[in-house]
Amino acid sequence: MATAVAQGDALPPYKDASAPVEARVRDLLARMTLREKAAQMAQIERTVASARALAELGAGSVLNGGGSAPGDRSPACWTGMIDGMQRLALSSRLGVPILYGTDAVHGHNNVYGATVFPHNVGLGTWRRRSIGSMDPELLRKIGEATALEVRATGIHWTFAPCVAVTEVCRDPRWGRCYESYSEDPEMVRSLTTSATGLQGQPPADHPHGYPFLASVREKVLACAKHFVGDGGTDSGINEGNTICSYNDLENIHMAPYLDCIAQGVATVMASHSQWNGERLHSCRYLLTDVLKGKLGFKGFVISDWEGIDKLCAPRVAQGSDYWYCIKQSFNAGMDMIMIPYRFEEFLEDLVFLVEAGEIPMSRIDDAVERILRVKFISGVFEHPFSDPSLLDIVGCKEHQLLAHEAVRKSMNQKEPFLPLATNVKRILVTGTHADDIGLQCGGWTIGWNGESGKITPGTSILEAIKESVGVQTEVVYEACATEATIATGQFSYAVVVVGEVPYAETVGDRTDLSIPFNGSDLITHVASTIPTLVIVVSGRSLDIETQVLETIDALVAAWLPGTEGMGIADCLFGHHDFVGTLPVTWHRSVDQLPLNAGDANYDPLFPVGYGLKMFEK
Ligand code: GLC
Repeated sequence: MATAVAQGDALPPYKDASAPVEARVRDLLARMTLREKAAQMAQIERTVASARALAELGAGSVLNGGGSAPGDRSPACWTGMIDGMQRLALSSRLGVPILYGTDAVHGHNNVYGATVFPHNVGLGTWRRRSIGSMDPELLRKIGEATALEVRATGIHWTFAPCVAVTEVCRDPRWGRCYESYSEDPEMVRSLTTSATGLQGQPPADHPHGYPFLASVREKVLACAKHFVGDGGTDSGINEGNTICSYNDLENIHMAPYLDCIAQGVATVMASHSQWNGERLHSCRYLLTDVLKGKLGFKGFVISDWEGIDKLCAPRVAQGSDYWYCIKQSFNAGMDMIMIPYRFEEFLEDLVFLVEAGEIPMSRIDDAVERILRVKFISGVFEHPFSDPSLLDIVGCKEHQLLAHEAVRKSMNQKEPFLPLATNVKRILVTGTHADDIGLQCGGWTIGWNGESGKITPGTSILEAIKESVGVQTEVVYEACATEATIATGQFSYAVVVVGEVPYAETVGDRTDLSIPFNGSDLITHVASTIPTLVIVVSGRSLDIETQVLETIDALVAAWLPGTEGMGIADCLFGHHDFVGTLPVTWHRSVDQLPLNAGDANYDPLFPVGYGLKMFEK
């Protein structure tokens, strides 16, 4: 006997992919309980994404903190983890899939074998013939390649681009200088095409501020961060206080967000920093009146890591003031909280606050509408799982060659000693950063703060030099060349590669900007008897003493080039010219800092825009 198809078997509108997004949002929202809505507003860390959290309580999003990764960090481990989480989420009462977010900030840098591109500060150096005529095409291509590698691991969302206009990158004591493109707002604005690469280019008639994604298979949701003024804190203190007028905040730090919002950026991350003493995470004026009102942003705002915890010190006697942090942040306009470990406490506190009338239901509905809108647009309802056909894209040759191009174009050189000869008898390569993939990638690579060593496949600078010289050339390598080697080696020239250890965020705040590991001494010893090229691998300008500068024959700022060292060799040996010019001031002494282009006493070692070519006299 045929079973009557009950009315209840009809597909609910929110599960109908052909229905308009806003109709799907309204239908699903109407079906949700307060507790289910509250759960959608939480982002938890992958290590606590349990069956209870995802299937029973319905957490809306999961992330991996910097360095947190499954198994051997291979693409297959990532897809296995995330597909498993989606299966749990889809088994919840309403079957709302999670959005998984990760910091793919210079390629898919958490994944072993992924292509790791130069960090943003290196990408900000490239411009066409004349200063200021930026060509952001390269950034868009890097965004596209990153999106493909992120999708290949089953992830729909990256916390990039960082569009901090680093006012303090002219004050390189800030540990996040390398995450921004430049101190010049116009340059940063022109490079927000990385968001277009990640999400795709919206059509001309796309509604302003509405989230956009061109392709579920090949694009990922972007996240413009950290809103707003993170790069302008006093004395370069990470998560510090940006003291400036609203006009300066809007004209300098907010400018890149206008472009990202116009390009349909799906999410914005609030900054840990303060504006004139008010924490961004509870600043209603900037999060709601400006970002959502004046700028018309219709995606959702996510907090930074434990960002609301900083809104109040824990009250020792009564435990924490977490309920107060939640109330202040959501009433200011936050939509999702990057918790990451306090999910059930968060859930209880939020439900209590709404039932007590401390947070209006309209605010909860606005936040959940925004989150659901982005989820429907991301395609995660129709395509919650990874696509195995994409796995081979991770670290593919095409992306490596793109990274070569980016590395080539990210370097600046001081004077014409280059190109290096390839047909000489013997050369010396030395320095801590000559043969270390981890050091040349910098922070946010495999580990949160990065790490030295062969942390992921790639080509070190030494390996690239060996591949580039002629067969008759002997390459002698010593991490720290000895006096004996220097004196007796009879080298045609030496390449000394020095720089910083990797770091991220506050860990990178420094007041001493000397070259670590006595790099200056090594340079002086080598250059005193051998024609010497120095390559500096760093996320900011470092101290280069005058006497060092006078003894060497050429200087290249390689910034943090990533896995593809061949891109450096391409320029060193003349296969491609240097086209990079400094995106930031290179200070003469830390005593000068902060040192900004336009200052009355502007006397840097190298000014913004400095850079020489080999073949163009
Ligand atoms: C960090 C960073 C932010 C990152 C987030 C998640 O604290 O400030 O840039 O996206 O946490 O890792």
